[in-house]
Amino acid sequence: MAIEHPNAHVTGIDMADMFPTAIRPENVSFQLTNIIDGLPYDDNTFDFVHMRQLVVGLRATEWPSVLAEIFRVLKPGGLVQLVESDFTEMGQSQLIDAVLTTLHRAMQDRGQDPWIASKLQNLLSDTTFNDVQQETRSIEFGKDGDPIAGELLWSWKSAMRSLKPFLAHRLLKNPDEYSPVLERYFHECTHYHWHMKIWALSARKPTATSLAAASSSS
Ligand SMILES: C[S@@+](CC[C@H](N)C(=O)[O-])C[C@H]1O[C@@H](n2cnc3c(N)ncnc32)[C@H](O)[C@@H]1O
Repeated sequence: MAIEHPNAHVTGIDMADMFPTAIRPENVSFQLTNIIDGLPYDDNTFDFVHMRQLVVGLRATEWPSVLAEIFRVLKPGGLVQLVESDFTEMGQSQLIDAVLTTLHRAMQDRGQDPWIASKLQNLLSDTTFNDVQQETRSIEFGKDGDPIAGELLWSWKSAMRSLKPFLAHRLLKNPDEYSPVLERYFHECTHYHWHMKIWALSARKPTATSLAAASSSS
Protein backbone atom coordinates (compact mmCIF):
# COMPACT_ATOMS: atom_id res chain seq x y z
CA MET A 1 0.00 0.00 0.00
CA ALA A 2 2.85 2.38 0.90
CA ILE A 3 4.60 1.59 -2.39
CA GLU A 4 1.40 2.15 -4.37
CA HIS A 5 0.75 5.46 -2.56
CA PRO A 6 4.15 7.13 -2.15
CA ASN A 7 2.58 10.45 -1.08
CA ALA A 8 0.72 8.85 1.84
CA HIS A 9 2.20 8.08 5.22
CA VAL A 10 1.25 4.54 6.27
CA THR A 11 1.20 3.40 9.90
CA GLY A 12 1.00 -0.35 10.57
CA ILE A 13 -0.03 -1.73 13.94
CA ASP A 14 -0.20 -5.20 15.50
CA MET A 15 0.29 -6.57 19.01
CA ALA A 16 2.86 -9.04 17.64
CA ASP A 17 6.00 -7.98 15.80
CA MET A 18 5.21 -9.55 12.44
CA PHE A 19 6.17 -6.47 10.47
CA PRO A 20 8.06 -6.97 7.21
CA THR A 21 11.78 -6.36 7.39
CA ALA A 22 12.81 -7.04 3.78
CA ILE A 23 10.61 -4.26 2.38
CA ARG A 24 10.51 -1.01 4.35
CA PRO A 25 9.41 1.96 2.23
CA GLU A 26 10.32 5.27 3.86
CA ASN A 27 6.69 6.31 4.14
CA VAL A 28 5.83 3.42 6.55
CA SER A 29 6.10 3.21 10.30
CA PHE A 30 5.10 0.31 12.55
CA GLN A 31 3.91 0.33 16.11
CA LEU A 32 3.39 -2.55 18.52
CA THR A 33 0.08 -1.98 20.23
CA ASN A 34 -2.86 -3.89 21.66
CA ILE A 35 -5.92 -2.33 20.09
CA ILE A 36 -8.07 -3.38 23.07
CA ASP A 37 -6.26 -0.70 25.08
CA GLY A 38 -7.33 1.96 22.59
CA LEU A 39 -5.46 3.34 19.58
CA PRO A 40 -2.42 5.44 20.53
CA TYR A 41 -3.32 8.33 18.21
CA ASP A 42 -5.06 11.67 18.57
CA ASP A 43 -8.62 12.23 17.44
CA ASN A 44 -9.04 12.94 13.70
CA THR A 45 -5.57 11.72 12.69
CA PHE A 46 -6.09 9.40 9.68
CA ASP A 47 -7.73 9.66 6.26
CA PHE A 48 -8.07 5.87 5.95
CA VAL A 49 -8.00 2.87 8.31
CA HIS A 50 -7.74 -0.71 7.04
CA MET A 51 -8.22 -3.62 9.46
CA ARG A 52 -8.02 -7.24 8.32
CA GLN A 53 -8.58 -10.70 9.77
CA LEU A 54 -9.30 -9.87 13.40
CA VAL A 55 -12.08 -12.50 13.53
CA VAL A 56 -9.62 -14.76 15.36
CA GLY A 57 -8.20 -11.92 17.46
CA LEU A 58 -11.09 -10.01 19.01
CA ARG A 59 -13.79 -11.20 21.39
CA ALA A 60 -17.34 -10.38 20.27
CA THR A 61 -17.66 -7.81 23.06
CA GLU A 62 -14.45 -6.04 21.95
CA TRP A 63 -15.57 -5.17 18.41
CA PRO A 64 -17.77 -2.16 19.32
CA SER A 65 -15.01 -0.40 21.29
CA VAL A 66 -12.39 -1.11 18.59
CA LEU A 67 -14.72 0.33 15.91
CA ALA A 68 -15.38 3.35 18.16
CA GLU A 69 -11.62 3.89 18.41
CA ILE A 70 -11.26 3.70 14.62
CA PHE A 71 -14.09 6.25 14.35
CA ARG A 72 -12.29 8.53 16.83
CA VAL A 73 -8.90 8.50 15.05
CA LEU A 74 -10.38 8.97 11.55
CA LYS A 75 -10.68 12.51 10.22
CA PRO A 76 -14.24 13.63 9.44
CA GLY A 77 -14.96 12.24 5.96
CA GLY A 78 -12.28 9.55 6.47
CA LEU A 79 -12.85 5.93 5.42
CA VAL A 80 -12.58 2.65 7.26
CA GLN A 81 -12.16 -0.63 5.37
CA LEU A 82 -12.63 -4.02 7.06
CA VAL A 83 -11.82 -7.40 5.48
CA GLU A 84 -12.83 -10.55 7.33
CA SER A 85 -13.19 -14.25 6.58
CA ASP A 86 -16.17 -16.43 7.25
CA PHE A 87 -15.23 -20.11 7.57
CA THR A 88 -18.65 -21.36 8.58
CA GLU A 89 -19.72 -23.28 5.44
CA MET A 90 -20.59 -26.82 6.52
CA GLY A 91 -22.31 -29.95 5.21
CA GLN A 92 -19.83 -31.36 2.69
CA SER A 93 -17.94 -33.95 4.70
CA GLN A 94 -17.94 -35.27 8.26
CA LEU A 95 -14.28 -34.40 8.72
CA ILE A 96 -14.64 -30.81 7.47
CA ASP A 97 -17.64 -30.34 9.75
CA ALA A 98 -15.80 -31.86 12.74
CA VAL A 99 -12.78 -29.56 12.28
CA LEU A 100 -14.94 -26.46 11.78
CA THR A 101 -17.27 -27.26 14.69
CA THR A 102 -14.22 -27.74 16.92
CA LEU A 103 -12.77 -24.42 15.76
CA HIS A 104 -16.08 -22.58 16.23
CA ARG A 105 -16.52 -24.02 19.76
CA ALA A 106 -12.95 -23.18 20.73
CA MET A 107 -13.46 -19.61 19.51
CA GLN A 108 -16.80 -19.31 21.30
CA ASP A 109 -15.19 -20.57 24.53
CA ARG A 110 -12.86 -17.56 24.23
CA GLY A 111 -15.82 -15.23 23.62
CA GLN A 112 -15.06 -14.91 19.88
CA ASP A 113 -17.77 -14.98 17.23
CA PRO A 114 -17.04 -17.05 14.07
CA TRP A 115 -20.03 -15.29 12.42
CA ILE A 116 -18.81 -11.75 13.23
CA ALA A 117 -18.17 -10.84 9.55
CA SER A 118 -21.90 -10.94 8.82
CA LYS A 119 -22.58 -8.56 11.73
CA LEU A 120 -20.05 -5.84 10.86
CA GLN A 121 -22.45 -3.87 8.69
CA ASN A 122 -24.75 -3.31 11.69
CA LEU A 123 -21.84 -2.70 14.03
CA LEU A 124 -20.48 0.01 11.72
CA SER A 125 -23.90 1.67 11.53
CA ASP A 126 -24.24 1.45 15.33
CA THR A 127 -20.88 3.25 15.59
CA THR A 128 -22.53 6.09 13.58
CA PHE A 129 -20.48 5.56 10.43
CA ASN A 130 -22.13 6.70 7.18
CA ASP A 131 -22.20 5.14 3.70
CA VAL A 132 -21.73 1.60 5.02
CA GLN A 133 -21.10 -0.73 2.08
CA GLN A 134 -20.25 -4.40 1.93
CA GLU A 135 -19.19 -6.92 -0.67
CA THR A 136 -18.74 -10.65 -0.29
CA ARG A 137 -16.81 -13.13 -2.40
CA SER A 138 -16.80 -16.87 -2.11
CA ILE A 139 -13.33 -18.28 -2.64
CA GLU A 140 -12.89 -21.97 -3.47
CA PHE A 141 -10.21 -23.54 -1.33
CA GLY A 142 -7.12 -24.27 -3.48
CA LYS A 143 -8.89 -23.86 -6.84
CA ASP A 144 -6.35 -24.59 -9.61
CA GLY A 145 -5.11 -21.51 -11.44
CA ASP A 146 -6.76 -19.01 -9.04
CA PRO A 147 -3.97 -17.04 -7.31
CA ILE A 148 -6.29 -15.78 -4.53
CA ALA A 149 -7.46 -19.34 -3.81
CA GLY A 150 -3.80 -20.46 -3.73
CA GLU A 151 -2.93 -17.70 -1.27
CA LEU A 152 -5.97 -18.60 0.84
CA LEU A 153 -4.95 -22.26 0.87
CA TRP A 154 -1.46 -21.36 2.06
CA SER A 155 -2.60 -19.01 4.83
CA TRP A 156 -5.45 -21.28 6.02
CA LYS A 157 -3.07 -24.27 6.20
CA SER A 158 -0.51 -22.33 8.22
CA ALA A 159 -3.22 -20.90 10.52
CA MET A 160 -4.72 -24.36 11.17
CA ARG A 161 -1.29 -25.92 11.78
CA SER A 162 -0.41 -23.17 14.27
CA LEU A 163 -3.72 -23.73 16.09
CA LYS A 164 -2.62 -27.24 17.13
CA PRO A 165 -2.27 -26.37 20.87
CA PHE A 166 -5.72 -24.83 20.76
CA LEU A 167 -7.57 -27.51 18.74
CA ALA A 168 -5.80 -30.90 18.93
CA HIS A 169 -7.12 -32.00 22.34
CA ARG A 170 -10.63 -30.81 21.49
CA LEU A 171 -10.74 -32.60 18.12
CA LEU A 172 -9.02 -35.88 18.93
CA LYS A 173 -8.69 -38.43 21.73
CA ASN A 174 -5.01 -38.66 20.78
CA PRO A 175 -3.77 -35.10 20.06
CA ASP A 176 -0.60 -36.52 18.43
CA GLU A 177 -2.77 -37.46 15.44
CA TYR A 178 -3.49 -33.76 14.74
CA SER A 179 -1.02 -33.36 11.83
CA PRO A 180 -2.13 -36.39 9.74
CA VAL A 181 -5.81 -35.65 10.44
CA LEU A 182 -5.26 -32.05 9.36
CA GLU A 183 -3.63 -33.19 6.09
CA ARG A 184 -6.72 -35.36 5.42
CA TYR A 185 -8.93 -32.36 6.24
CA PHE A 186 -6.99 -30.15 3.73
CA HIS A 187 -7.34 -32.87 1.11
CA GLU A 188 -11.12 -33.07 1.69
CA CYS A 189 -11.48 -29.27 1.54
CA THR A 190 -9.96 -29.36 -1.97
CA HIS A 191 -11.85 -32.51 -2.98
CA TYR A 192 -15.25 -31.16 -1.86
CA HIS A 193 -14.56 -27.62 -3.18
CA TRP A 194 -14.97 -26.09 0.27
CA HIS A 195 -15.54 -22.33 0.11
CA MET A 196 -14.49 -19.55 2.39
CA LYS A 197 -16.47 -16.35 2.24
CA ILE A 198 -14.56 -13.06 2.35
CA TRP A 199 -16.42 -9.96 3.52
CA ALA A 200 -15.13 -6.50 2.63
CA LEU A 201 -16.81 -3.45 4.15
CA SER A 202 -16.21 0.26 3.94
CA ALA A 203 -17.79 3.16 5.82
CA ARG A 204 -17.20 6.87 6.23
CA LYS A 205 -16.95 9.05 9.33
CA PRO A 206 -19.50 11.83 8.86
CA THR A 207 -18.36 15.39 8.28
CA ALA A 208 -19.96 18.33 10.11
CA THR A 209 -21.79 19.15 6.85
CA SER A 210 -23.18 15.63 6.42
CA LEU A 211 -24.33 15.61 10.06
CA ALA A 212 -26.08 18.98 9.65
CA ALA A 213 -27.75 17.77 6.44
CA ALA A 214 -28.93 14.58 8.14
CA SER A 215 -30.37 16.43 11.16
CA SER A 216 -32.17 19.03 8.99
CA SER A 217 -33.78 16.28 6.89
CA SER A 218 -34.97 14.25 9.90
C1 LIG B 1 -4.97 -13.44 11.10
S1 LIG B 1 -3.73 -12.29 11.52
C2 LIG B 1 -3.96 -11.03 10.29
C3 LIG B 1 -2.72 -10.20 10.10
C4 LIG B 1 -2.85 -9.01 9.15
N1 LIG B 1 -3.84 -8.05 9.65
C5 LIG B 1 -3.23 -9.46 7.76
O1 LIG B 1 -4.40 -9.33 7.39
O2 LIG B 1 -2.37 -9.99 7.05
C6 LIG B 1 -4.42 -11.51 12.96
C7 LIG B 1 -3.46 -10.52 13.54
O3 LIG B 1 -4.16 -9.77 14.53
C8 LIG B 1 -3.25 -9.48 15.56
N2 LIG B 1 -4.06 -9.15 16.76
C9 LIG B 1 -4.94 -9.94 17.38
N3 LIG B 1 -5.48 -9.31 18.45
C10 LIG B 1 -4.91 -8.08 18.48
C11 LIG B 1 -5.03 -6.97 19.36
N4 LIG B 1 -5.84 -7.00 20.42
N5 LIG B 1 -4.27 -5.87 19.11
C12 LIG B 1 -3.44 -5.83 18.05
N6 LIG B 1 -3.27 -6.85 17.17
C13 LIG B 1 -4.00 -7.97 17.40
C14 LIG B 1 -2.44 -10.75 15.71
O4 LIG B 1 -1.21 -10.51 16.35
C15 LIG B 1 -2.28 -11.17 14.24
O5 LIG B 1 -1.10 -10.67 13.68
